[in-house]
Amino acid sequence: MANESRRITPEQLRSRWWFDNPEHPGTTALCIERYMNYGITLDELVSGKPIIGIAQSGSDLTPCNRHHIELVKRVKDGIRAAGGVPFEFPLHPIHENVRRPTAALDRNLAYLGLVEILHGYPLDGVVLTTGCDKTTPACLMAAATVNIPAIVLSGGPMLNGWRGSERVGSGTVVWELRKRLAAGDIEYPEFLARITDSAPSVGHCNTMGTASTMNSMAEALGMSLPGSAMIPAPYKERSMVAYQTGERIVGMVWEDLRPSDILTREAFENAIVVCSALGGSSNAPVHINAIARHAGIEIDNDDWQRLGHQIPLLANVMPAGIYLSEEFYRAGGVPAVISELLGAGKLHGEVITVNGQSLAANAAGRETSDDDVIRRYANPLVEAAGFINLKGNLFDSALMKTSVIASDFRRRFLSRAEDPDAFEGRVAVFDGAEDYHARIDDPDLAVDENTILVMRGAGPVGHPGGAEVVNMQPPEALIRQGIESLPCIGDGRQSGTSGSPSILNASPEAATGGGLALLETGDRIRIDLRRGEANLLIADDQLAQRRERLASRGGYIYPPHQTPWQEIQRSLVEQHDRGMTLEPATKYRDVARR
Ligand code: FES
Ligand code: MG
Repeated sequence: MANESRRITPEQLRSRWWFDNPEHPGTTALCIERYMNYGITLDELVSGKPIIGIAQSGSDLTPCNRHHIELVKRVKDGIRAAGGVPFEFPLHPIHENVRRPTAALDRNLAYLGLVEILHGYPLDGVVLTTGCDKTTPACLMAAATVNIPAIVLSGGPMLNGWRGSERVGSGTVVWELRKRLAAGDIEYPEFLARITDSAPSVGHCNTMGTASTMNSMAEALGMSLPGSAMIPAPYKERSMVAYQTGERIVGMVWEDLRPSDILTREAFENAIVVCSALGGSSNAPVHINAIARHAGIEIDNDDWQRLGHQIPLLANVMPAGIYLSEEFYRAGGVPAVISELLGAGKLHGEVITVNGQSLAANAAGRETSDDDVIRRYANPLVEAAGFINLKGNLFDSALMKTSVIASDFRRRFLSRAEDPDAFEGRVAVFDGAEDYHARIDDPDLAVDENTILVMRGAGPVGHPGGAEVVNMQPPEALIRQGIESLPCIGDGRQSGTSGSPSILNASPEAATGGGLALLETGDRIRIDLRRGEANLLIADDQLAQRRERLASRGGYIYPPHQTPWQEIQRSLVEQHDRGMTLEPATKYRDVARR
C-alpha cells in the first residue's frame, strides 16, 4: 500500500510556486492571466487542485497513437472527477514506420523535450500517453529523470487483422510477404492489399512487436494500471481505463507516489522476466536498459541472459506464436502472465505499482482463462525463451532472441551431431541497408545456404539512431529454392515484429571501433549459443593487422549528418547495450523536486 506518511497538503503542491506565490506577485499574475485567457477560472488555478499534465503522443503524424486524441477526453474527465485540473500538451511525434532515417532518433529527442516540459511548467503529476514503439520508453525515461508522479496510459493495440479466416499480424506479415514478393509468388498490388489487412482499426501493432512489448513492460514495471496495457484500442474498456488513469494520477499526487518508488531494481528484474515469457521484442533490452539508467539503476545485457534466458515462452502471440492482441487480452493479458510467473517464483511480487498495491496483489485471481493463448508455466510454447548475450572478438555484447528460432533454422544450422548449439559459416558483409539491397543478389557474393549475412554501419552512430535492418532476407535465387532465412549478425536492431533469429545490437558498433568493422566477405565466424560466444576465426596477429590498417584509414567511415540533431545525438549517444542513452543525461535525477 502507498505510504500514508508521505501524503502532501495543497500547500505542498509543486504548482503553487507558479500560481500562488506571494513572494513573486508579478510572475504569479502573469502565469495566471494567460491560462485564464481560454477560460480556466482563477479558482481552478489557485485553490489547491493538482495540475495534471497529459503528454499527448497522438497526432496525424503518429497514427499508432492517434486514438489518444479521443482517449484524453476520458482522462480529463477522470482528472476532474478526482479534483485535478488537466493540462494537455504535445510530445514530439514518433512514428516507427514512416520517420526517416529512423524513429529511434526521436526517442531521445522526445525524452529531452518531455524532461524540459515536466521540469519547467506548473505540473504536479503527469499522464503519459503511449503506444507506438519508442513513445513508451521516451515517456518512461523522462518520468525517471524528472520524478514527479507519473502514470502510463497505452492507447492499446489494433484489433486483429484478418484475411478470410487467417490472422494477419501487423509488421510480421511484411517480413513474410516480402519473401513471397521476392520469389515472384505475388505481385505488388496483392502484397500491399495483404499488408493493409493487418491494420484494421486505430491502435498500435497487434503483434508482440516493440509497441505491445513496451506497453506490457510499462505494466510489468508497475507504471500503468493493472490489466491496462493490452486492452485493444477500440474496446470500451480502453476508454474506461483512460478515465481510471486520470482519476488515479490525482491520488498519486496526494500520496506523493513517484517513479523512484516504483522503478526499483526489482521492478526492472520483473520486466526482464515478463519480457521473456511474452516473447517480447529484441528492442526491449535497449529501452529497458535506458529507462533503468535514467532511474539510476544499472541493468545490462548480462542481466537479461541471467534472469531471462531460462524463462519459458507463455504468450502464444505473433511473431513467436500464432495469436494476436485480442486473444491475448481476452485470455487475461499481462496480469495472467504475471500470475503464472509469480506462481513459479520468478518475480518480485512485493514491488509497489501506480495503484498503490503490490504487483502480487494486482495479479491475484487473474490467471489465464485460455491456456492455449497464455500457457501455464509447466506447459510453455518454448522452454528457455529469453535472450542470449553473445560475446567474442567481434563485439562485447549482441543479443539473440531464442523464442523465434524456427525448427527449419535449427535443423539447418544447429542440431548438428558435433555440437547442437553451435554453427559456423562464411560471411557476406554489407555496409548499411543500401549496400545490402544493391548487392544481395550479386552472384559474385556467392551467398549459399550456409552463409552468415552481416550488416554493419547500422548502429546508433553509423546510422544515426540505429537502423532496424539486421533481419536480411536471402538472395531471391535462394528463396526460390526454399531457403527462406540465413543467420544474420549486425550492429543495428531489427523490428520487434520480425521472427528472424538474428544476432542484433552488436556493441560496440563498427562506427565506434567494434570488431565488425574488421570483417571481410569470405571470413568465417563461429557462433556458440551454449557458451555465449561469437568469434571471427582468424589468428590474433592477423586481426591486429586489420585493426592497424583500419586505423590508418581513419576508422570506419559512415554517412554525413543530415540534420543538427543527428550530429548532436551522434556526439553524445551510447551504444545499444547501454540503452542508446545520451551520455550526459543519465546523471540527472529528481530534476523537478521542489
Ligand atoms: Fe507504430 Fe507498430 S508501427 S506500433
Ligand atoms: Mg520497430
